[in-house]
Amino acid sequence: MAADFSRYDTRHYPTLPVREGYQAWANTYESTVLDLMDLRLLERLRTIDWARTGQALDLACGTGRGGAWLKAKGVASIDGVDFTPAMLERASAKGLYDRLLLGDVAAVDLPAATYSLVTQLLADEHLADLAPVYREAMRLTLPGGRFVLVGYHPWFLMAGIPTHFDRAPGDPVGIESHVHLFSDHVAAAHAAGWRLAEMVEGLVDEAWIEAKPKWAAHRDRPVSFALVWEKPRTKS
Ligand SMILES: C[S@@+](CC[C@H](N)C(=O)[O-])C[C@H]1O[C@@H](n2cnc3c(N)ncnc32)[C@H](O)[C@@H]1O
Repeated sequence: MAADFSRYDTRHYPTLPVREGYQAWANTYESTVLDLMDLRLLERLRTIDWARTGQALDLACGTGRGGAWLKAKGVASIDGVDFTPAMLERASAKGLYDRLLLGDVAAVDLPAATYSLVTQLLADEHLADLAPVYREAMRLTLPGGRFVLVGYHPWFLMAGIPTHFDRAPGDPVGIESHVHLFSDHVAAAHAAGWRLAEMVEGLVDEAWIEAKPKWAAHRDRPVSFALVWEKPRTKS
């Protein structure tokens, strides 16, 4: 079962509700989130031929970092959904999404069986329950399609470090987070009908420590993960 982050919290920053948090972070978001967290994991995936992906949907697309990566890899067409207007405005300014929708990943106003690829980068810790997003991604994906979910590692959350940013210099705030064990992901994904195709985890290595010297204290600890789920072509 998902656990509220507060039981692991070691920082005790003031905590903002998710939409409010990203509305406040949107201006500085891209200068603080490192590609090491998610995009480097996407580079390691071997079960997806990005250039042969037709239509993709980027759930919780934020400012469009993931969309930009997908486009650079040759993904033909990308739609995006996010429920924070200020994040979505930045994604829109990039001009690389075909359609952008303001909405919740748990109930997306798009037709079923449309996408050969659905992604969700760095958002699962903000969902109290994983089941709705796995169900919704299943509904939206074509048979044989993939759902790639990249997340902040539960180990790091359980070590007491929330998703956070500086609202002003020296004024860190957390954003409401939940801890999902990998067994939570597997249970929610299997209940929705997904099969696991691939999984990778990222550790705090030299590249991380160069970018964030204080993270030497977390050397070799897992900081992020990527799960590639496949929608079976026929119901089993
Ligand atoms: C850490 S950002 C990730 C943005 C982008 N995917 C990236 O990798 O840079 C988390 C995003 O998830 C969005 N988000 C969180 N919960 C959501 C929900 N239930 N429905 C839609 N968007 C959500 C937030 O608005 C925010 O833009």
